[in-house]
Amino acid sequence: MNFYVLTLFPELIDGIVNTSITGRAIKKGVLRVSTVNIRDFSTRRDGRVDDYPYGGGAGMVMEAEPVAGAIASVKEKAPGARVVYLTPQGPVLTQTKAEELAREKDLVLLCGHYEGIDERVLDEYVTDYLSIGDYVLTGGELGAAVVIDAVSRFVPGVLPNEDSARFESLQDNLLEYPQYTRPVEWRGRKVPDVLLSGDHSAVSAWRAEQSLKRTGERRPDLLKNHYRVFCLTAGGDKASAAGAEFLNAVSRLGEVFSFDRRKLIKSGWQFKKNDLAIFACSPGAMTEDERFQKVKGNGTPAVILLVSDQETAGESEAAAHMRSLLEQKGFRVIAEEMLPDETEGRDIPGMAISVREKLLQLS
Ligand code: ADE
Repeated sequence: MNFYVLTLFPELIDGIVNTSITGRAIKKGVLRVSTVNIRDFSTRRDGRVDDYPYGGGAGMVMEAEPVAGAIASVKEKAPGARVVYLTPQGPVLTQTKAEELAREKDLVLLCGHYEGIDERVLDEYVTDYLSIGDYVLTGGELGAAVVIDAVSRFVPGVLPNEDSARFESLQDNLLEYPQYTRPVEWRGRKVPDVLLSGDHSAVSAWRAEQSLKRTGERRPDLLKNHYRVFCLTAGGDKASAAGAEFLNAVSRLGEVFSFDRRKLIKSGWQFKKNDLAIFACSPGAMTEDERFQKVKGNGTPAVILLVSDQETAGESEAAAHMRSLLEQKGFRVIAEEMLPDETEGRDIPGMAISVREKLLQLS
């Protein structure tokens, strides 16, 4: 992935990104961070790029033309790149946003200084506004470095252990569970027994419980964005395989249930507000009302995932039918996705990111 940082202080960026994990990734060639000095595009003999604000007030404003020149110089190499302006006026960076940005091939990060940048050049070029928190920094460089670090972790080949890139508890809006290493006892404090038991499912259950508990104690604000995710499948193996893949991209803690089983059809299900129900079905199964007759929502967000099974036509009718059924039963359908038959044409991670972003917007 290529980052282009437009800044008055390239040395600040270089110093940070060439160290540690990002530094190693740059050496390996999986990341490229190019800095562009906005001062090189000054239109004035003294090399200045700032001027007094119209209307008066304290501080200086960065002029439009040098910033435009710097952006244009990068756009020659990466014409389609998004231009992200680091500012406390943007939405605050989240783990899901970092994951979404990591899907770009090129990313331009624009760092402001002084009292800001002339609004007209922002209107002309900027595609995204991004803050790293509700405080004011002296410039955008530390923000750009934070964005590069958080985004890079999602780029394949950056983290030494690929697994850790795949899913962080924060993508589920939960904090991580506590970790321990040797010795078993340190200053009279023992490692919890369950971690020494060798029972993998007990360890997973303990970790999930600790994550929830910790989030409630330390970051209750995150908990309202945490959803327990369930995938309900119907219409055979293709639907359940696709449903499981989609579910794993949405949450680390989800479960799949097959509504091809009579027992579940009969017993039904009462969902809660902070559940997410993913209905992964073939179009044929979607039109069979009785399967989901006893499934009820309580303002529960739902995703319809249509898994095409070749013979069946009328996919959009099936989805519309399912949508109206779910809405009658108390669900809020937040997304309707069609999965092409070919595994190649599928972008399940992309769909999952957009579902997680929609969930964040619900609260
Ligand atoms: N520039 C100044 N303050 C900032 C912040 N909080 N986030 C991103 N860029 C900034």
